[in-house]
Amino acid sequence: MEPSLIIAPSILAADFAHLATAVHEIEGAADWVHVDVMDNHFVPNLTIGLPVVQSLRKATTIPFDVHLMITDPERWAPGYAEAGAHNVTFHAEACDNPVALAKTLRAAGAKAGLAIDRDTPVEPYLELLPYVDTVLIMTIKAGFGGQKFMPEMLDKVRDVRRRIKAKDLQVRLEVDGGIAADTIEQAAEAGADAFVAGTAVYGAEDPAEACRKLRALAERATAGS
Ligand code: DX5
Ligand code: ZN
Repeated sequence: MEPSLIIAPSILAADFAHLATAVHEIEGAADWVHVDVMDNHFVPNLTIGLPVVQSLRKATTIPFDVHLMITDPERWAPGYAEAGAHNVTFHAEACDNPVALAKTLRAAGAKAGLAIDRDTPVEPYLELLPYVDTVLIMTIKAGFGGQKFMPEMLDKVRDVRRRIKAKDLQVRLEVDGGIAADTIEQAAEAGADAFVAGTAVYGAEDPAEACRKLRALAERATAGS
């Protein structure tokens, strides 16, 4: 059984020459490792792809939360599911048929996630919630770590949470971008239950301690709800 709240450090903020070490540092303190795949097309930035994920998968047992910021996810996303990713999230803006891709990902053994970027309204996607396992609301513009959290994105989180509750769905509601000790509580209060944190974890002296601190803050914010 998964914990009620998920802390997912993003290795985008880690040392790319020592990714296995970075993952080992947060084992036991984090629930998922968030892997940001960027293709220099969907977003201007370029990070890592399938071969790195395949190698890293062998170095740890912690579940991988793969965030695909790429065009043509229909072509590439299933490979990450086959590589053993726990959750594979693709962007709504890059996909013509999210329900079909979610089905493919589930058939390949992964959870399927739908990401909504900063400039995309969430309303048109609310009816797709029964077909996905995770909704990722960007609280920045996708593409780079270290950006400032945008509290106005939390209206989308509230909208998704309301729909999950109304329909009694089993969907994770994840936030990504600028999540840190001073922002995680508002995201949790808005209804998020999975939290990606890059800079706040890997920029910290002790990444595992940073994860524990974030979890405590999120738990406190949701206590009694
Ligand atoms: C950015 C990525 C994020 C990034 C978050 O597009 O999707 O996962 O790593 O980094 P921070 O936590 O530093 O905002
Ligand atoms: Zn991400």
